[in-house]
Amino acid sequence: MTGESPSAWHPQGAPPDFRFTAENETLARGIVGRYPAGRSASALLPLLDLAQRQNGRWLSPAALAYVADFLGLSPLKVREVASFYTMFNLEPVGRYEVQVCRTTPCCLCGAEDLWKTCRAKLNVEEDGGTTRDGLFSLKEVECLGACVNAPVVQINDLYYENLTPETLNTLLDTLAATGPALPKPER
Ligand code: FES
Repeated sequence: MTGESPSAWHPQGAPPDFRFTAENETLARGIVGRYPAGRSASALLPLLDLAQRQNGRWLSPAALAYVADFLGLSPLKVREVASFYTMFNLEPVGRYEVQVCRTTPCCLCGAEDLWKTCRAKLNVEEDGGTTRDGLFSLKEVECLGACVNAPVVQINDLYYENLTPETLNTLLDTLAATGPALPKPER
């Protein structure tokens, strides 16, 4: 898969056109091939994920239209699905997408303090907001499925667990200082 790369990140908006790279097109055809003939709509979620990764972590209108056309679905149906899941972004996001779990187990273990820490640190007013420098986006999400190590924050594809405001503060500082490389979560 053509994964996320610094050059794929374009906070000012994606290019107006979108099509899969040759590598991703092969992958996409393989994904569609897993499903019975006439059931290619079942491949919608993995193809949206593939398109989002290629497109700098968000699904532009062009990317949505391309995936709809690729699967022979209506653009409206594709947009409906993409807008339902918090894992899909319909607006450009920062290089680091900070997703704070705020479901009950995480809340009982201090997620509210993590949320306040992020808000204060990043100076982002709204859920889904992005810092002025385009480095961080912040959003609240439902259970990330790692409640045993609550509270949990997902940043891009990595989970950071058993966080405290202090460790999260340090992590955000590290991200701001190191650029694109994500520090590995501690186990
Ligand atoms: S409640 Fe946060 S990971 Fe499940």
